[in-house]
Amino acid sequence: MTTSQAASPTTSPTATPSEQDLERHFDEIIARDQRIEPRDWMPDGYRKTLVRQIAQHAHSEIIGMQPEANWITRAPSLRRKAILLAKVQDEAGHGLYLYSAAETLGADRTEMTEKLIDSRQKYSSIFNYPTLNFADVGVIGWLVDGAAICNQVPLCRSSYGPYARGMVRICKEESFHQRQGYELLMTMMRGTEEQRQMVQDATDRWWWPSLMMFGPPDHDSPNTAQSMEWKIKRHTNDELRQRFVDMTVPQAEALGVTLPDPELAWNDERGHYDFGEIDWSEFKQVISGNGPCNAQRLAHRRRAHEDGAWVREAAAAHAAKHSHAAVS
Ligand SMILES: [Fe+2]
Ligand SMILES: [Fe+2]
Repeated sequence: MTTSQAASPTTSPTATPSEQDLERHFDEIIARDQRIEPRDWMPDGYRKTLVRQIAQHAHSEIIGMQPEANWITRAPSLRRKAILLAKVQDEAGHGLYLYSAAETLGADRTEMTEKLIDSRQKYSSIFNYPTLNFADVGVIGWLVDGAAICNQVPLCRSSYGPYARGMVRICKEESFHQRQGYELLMTMMRGTEEQRQMVQDATDRWWWPSLMMFGPPDHDSPNTAQSMEWKIKRHTNDELRQRFVDMTVPQAEALGVTLPDPELAWNDERGHYDFGEIDWSEFKQVISGNGPCNAQRLAHRRRAHEDGAWVREAAAAHAAKHSHAAVS
């Protein structure tokens, strides 16, 4: 149902609705589980929260291309190269949909890019870890895209229309990413002992950072309550993390790898897997710019932005020429 089918503010058609009327109307749309659209009135905090979240999400998609693009030229076969190339291109597309979604809220694309390369806006901590061999490509698909799916499927029901709709398509592509990673790992596990060790080693390195992708624990996540009230977020960080663990443990068993957590065990009473304590000091270090690859990722993004200046200038000149031709 669209917002146009929702009740109008309770004012006569000619009177300008007051701030309270607009707010009440907004609250009613949220309460009915309908979507807020770009033309609708929304509280400043709602707009700011969404711009911050969507921009961070877009930056993560774009920066997230780097660790895997590192392996495109060294893929072990044409088939693996084609799959990886398609996956990395999908991530570029995700970034573009999300920048467009942020633009519907009045955010400026150039400004968002500048904020990213000046470290004024963040991106997911996971992309600050290095990819050491081709098994990492498989493990990223399995765990990192798997965690992204857990995070993003509920966002398809986010209260902001353009974000929710963008997520529907993104999630379909993420599911391909996850499956290509798992299939690559299955193939390696049927290979040599050395290949099996590569998969285990990559799993050991990526498991804990994948759990950190869901963000800080609920008691240390001050924005969660408001985001859930606005139905931007549908589940807390800890709920999503638990869902990911429950989903991944049987997959690890089927694959034949050991997840690097001695405390990982099924808890019959809770109906969930228990798992060990996450090293939150590492998370804080990586988020504040001190992860293994933060400087390298940003330097690369900055260089790509500078190298692309001529394209932006040419596109602007072309657009100006055409608008001039249209008026004359
Ligand atoms: Fe993506
Ligand atoms: Fe992905």
